[in-house]
Amino acid sequence: MISATQPHSRSYTCPTTRPDIATDVLEGLCRVPKSLPPKLLYDARGSALFEQITDLPEYYPTRTEAAILAAHAEEICSRLERDISVSELGAGSATKTRILLRSLLHRQSTVDYFPLDVSHAALQIAKDEVENELDAVTVYPQIGDFTDLAFLVRQPSPRLVLYIGSSIGNLEQADAISLLQTIAGHLSSGDKLLLGADLVKDSAVLNAAYNDSAGITASFNKNLLLRINRELGGHFEPDAFSHVSFWNEPESRIELHLESLCSQSVRVDALDATLNFYPGERIHTENSYKYTLERLKNLLRYGGFQVEHTWTDPDCWFAVSLGVVA
Ligand code: SAH
Ligand code: AVI
Repeated sequence: MISATQPHSRSYTCPTTRPDIATDVLEGLCRVPKSLPPKLLYDARGSALFEQITDLPEYYPTRTEAAILAAHAEEICSRLERDISVSELGAGSATKTRILLRSLLHRQSTVDYFPLDVSHAALQIAKDEVENELDAVTVYPQIGDFTDLAFLVRQPSPRLVLYIGSSIGNLEQADAISLLQTIAGHLSSGDKLLLGADLVKDSAVLNAAYNDSAGITASFNKNLLLRINRELGGHFEPDAFSHVSFWNEPESRIELHLESLCSQSVRVDALDATLNFYPGERIHTENSYKYTLERLKNLLRYGGFQVEHTWTDPDCWFAVSLGVVA
């Protein structure tokens, strides 16, 4: 269980509550057109596949952001209050976060780190790897959704909130703004937000990143069907769907879909439902919005933040912005 008291012990364990996906699946698959929330991509297998994606030659975001963080971590940390605690939304395995935590430890002797994620498996890896490498960091994993940021109240001040990895791009603009506003509402003067966002670039680069030649992104996408089979007694045949992903220029986003290759009816036992698909019918599984620097600045402004500084890579493919509450 998540403790409601102030953290103090390294023996803090990873919470085990797992999300119930039935409502999201039923609602999404009864919609026209069909869609599923992208957070459902991340069960244990989905998180492991995402880790593989981050190493793909075509998937530039992770290594580009890691290079920005490695080049500027000391400067980023020098802009923070001393004895700051760190929380992170959608931390995943927290691999890039360790770059920042290492730099922070040049300026303070200990760090309390609060990673939030819907994926229990990812949080467990984050906790193990951070604590194995960095003795002076205590990890307080929080399992849950971005829509419940109550745990930020327990994060000691001064605070740094990390929202890196371009996960903000998986939210619709209105949701991204309201999430930023919620974060801003939890912060006081001296607290900061570090936001990582993927930038608009050549469509060939974008399309390749989500259509890798090894087919890992396709497996990541189709894992959603397998997850429904595992957790809800679904009878999806993943080979009867294809992974479809493309750059939608007017909307400035990559879209991921699962497309039915034939006319089929799929039973999902736990929902007591049979879902019908016509040939070519799609389930929309994810959007990944790409920003311009101007749109990113405006997003932060509407979200209640003023940009203190933005770092990019030499090709301007990715941006990391430090924001203060406006
Ligand atoms: N920040 C890491 C991981 C990015 S992958 C990186 O930069 O590499 C996105 C992470 O966000 C996954 O671990 C996923 O489980 C988590 N996630 C996705 N939707 C979420 C939601 N609605 N609430 C909380 N976590 C979410
Ligand atoms: C987590 N998120 C930022 C990834 C992205 O690029 O939008 C998820 C992903 N989907 C397919 N590949 C990676």
